[in-house]
Amino acid sequence: MPALPDRVALITGAGSGIGRATALLFAQEGATVVAADKIGERAEETARLVTEDGGRAIGVTADVSVAADVTAMVEAAVGSFGRVDVLVNNAGLSVGDTILDFDEAAWDLNLDVVLKSVYLCSRAVLPGMLERKRGAICNISSVNGIFAVGESAYAAAKAGMISLTANMANHFGKDGVRVNCVAPGTIRTPIWSERLKKDPNVFDTLKVWYPLGRVGEPEDVANACLFLCSDAAAWITGVTLPVDGGLTTGNFRMNTALQGDDA
Ligand SMILES: NC(=O)c1ccc[n+]([C@@H]2O[C@H](COP(=O)([O-])OP(=O)(O)OC[C@H]3O[C@@H](n4cnc5c(N)ncnc54)[C@H](O)[C@@H]3O)[C@@H](O)[C@H]2O)c1
Repeated sequence: MPALPDRVALITGAGSGIGRATALLFAQEGATVVAADKIGERAEETARLVTEDGGRAIGVTADVSVAADVTAMVEAAVGSFGRVDVLVNNAGLSVGDTILDFDEAAWDLNLDVVLKSVYLCSRAVLPGMLERKRGAICNISSVNGIFAVGESAYAAAKAGMISLTANMANHFGKDGVRVNCVAPGTIRTPIWSERLKKDPNVFDTLKVWYPLGRVGEPEDVANACLFLCSDAAAWITGVTLPVDGGLTTGNFRMNTALQGDDA
């Protein structure tokens, strides 16, 4: 039995990394996919990959920080497939590190693409979900939204997603709409491409901080997202699930050192 039978799933930032992996997995699990991305060719490529894999999908070009684009994106989804049952708010980027490193425009960009987009996209699909008394929304936050690991503006926006998740879950649960969040740790995707140019070994450098001994793959996040959007999670709403190889359990290297057993 597929996990998302007859569902129409709209995934933002679906042209790369976690969004693309989620689109492919959701389609394999029975969903019809609307793959949206700011870069249209990427969205189309994901839709093509889904179709080649035997699924049903369209690609849509949309900047999720722009209200008119979001309206057109949801109209395209409803026009093609009649409704949106599942929304994955995945599109994101990160600019700057400490608050002295970036200007006001960069602050606004982080907040608009990461946080305002969740408001815009959720607001656009919710009326239909509430009318049908069925819907699932999954927000892709980050461990940066849970504790301090840099990228201040991005982190503040990701923390905001966690709060918005709880409030939306609280408000709309009685009408059959569930809203959950995942908080990934380091995931091997193209978002790291600039950093990889500077340090080709960045994933090896980072993996030592993960109790499970590796960084994550896009499929690790897609699987968590699938569970939260499926009926298997029918009584789960408002949670933020770390998908982080144990990173947010605490500083295991410090604990190992305290035990006198530092590797
Ligand atoms: N990769 C990681 O280590 C990691 C860790 C924690 C959280 N995340 C989050 O996961 C999500 C996906 O990231 P990824 O690693 O797959 O990155 P990615 O760069 O591979 O993919 C992000 C996609 O979002 C699209 N996008 C960017 N701005 C957009 C906009 N305004 N409108 C529509 N689409 C837009 C990009 O074109 C791209 O295709 C992001 O929200 C990111 O913050 C990633």
